Amino acid sequence: MTSPPLQASAQAQPNIALVKYWGKRDDVLNLPAAGSLSITLDALHTRTSVRFDPALERDDIALNGRRDDAHGRRVGAFLDLFRARAGIAMRARVASDNDFPTGAGLASSAAGFAALAVAADRALDLRMPARQLSVLARRGSGSAARSIFGGFVEMHAGVRDDGEDAHAAPLLAAREWPLKVVIAITTRAPKSTGSRAGMELSRRSSPFYRDWIAAVAGDLATARAAVRARDFGKLAAVSEASCLSMHAVMLSTRPGLIYWNGATVECLHRVRALREHEGTGVFFTVDAGPQVKAVCLPEHAARVADALRGVAGVEEVLVSGLGEGAQVTGSAAVAA
Ligand code: DP6
Repeated sequence: MTSPPLQASAQAQPNIALVKYWGKRDDVLNLPAAGSLSITLDALHTRTSVRFDPALERDDIALNGRRDDAHGRRVGAFLDLFRARAGIAMRARVASDNDFPTGAGLASSAAGFAALAVAADRALDLRMPARQLSVLARRGSGSAARSIFGGFVEMHAGVRDDGEDAHAAPLLAAREWPLKVVIAITTRAPKSTGSRAGMELSRRSSPFYRDWIAAVAGDLATARAAVRARDFGKLAAVSEASCLSMHAVMLSTRPGLIYWNGATVECLHRVRALREHEGTGVFFTVDAGPQVKAVCLPEHAARVADALRGVAGVEEVLVSGLGEGAQVTGSAAVAA
């Protein structure tokens, strides 16, 4: 039996939910209250390396070269899941770098935990199937379960108390419907209330929370059918409805969660005008931050990017295609 390499690196891409996840049925196992549906991007990357080392007294976690106690504890608890499976207690050094703004509503935690799950699995030679990696990635961040896979992905809420059936699964490969996503960055400042705290506040205080959760199954069925039929108009309608319903829950939380700024709202109007008056195949979605993601037909991406660049307050526009799931990029043993 060969010993595990103890070190590996992996890359993952953020995903953008079209049918949104906002609420949990269990916050210890991080189980979503409802399913969700997403697309994995190809233009933004998180690269993560992990090295388990018997000489380390504690985990050493660096995100973009910076160490933060709260983040370190969350990542340490996540690594414990892998240590338990491998039957080891060794601490680890983790370095994770994003080539896009962190914590500003661009799903950095999704790509981060997906990359770390894949890297830790390889470093410890656990060789878990993708579905199991998705279950574990979910423990780090619900949306990370989806970044294990590429293209169009559905997250299943599951019904089991142990969460083993709460995992993502691929729905359609990126190449089978190669849509583009134009991202309008309206600020680089980190968001005020993180998703985790925000969704717990919504569960406790929004009068619309229960109705929101109850409506997700119907939206998921519609979106799933739209993806399978490559029906852009149908996907546009259900995605914008899911996004705006989630933001209605956020706004009706007490105190209200206002993730948008003025430029966010201007971008939404611009996207609607492009579609309704200029015949452009585009729709918007917005997460727990002020950036606007405009999903569009590939032949309309340049027109959408130009239009959003022209909106006052938009600092930068990125254009992404749909990408692959999280992957190991290296696992050769390195000298200590
Ligand atoms: C608004 O996956 O960040 O982006 O499970 O608590 O880590 P935790 O939450 P997270 O929430 C993502 C919320 C969202 C919508 C979505 O991606 O579906």
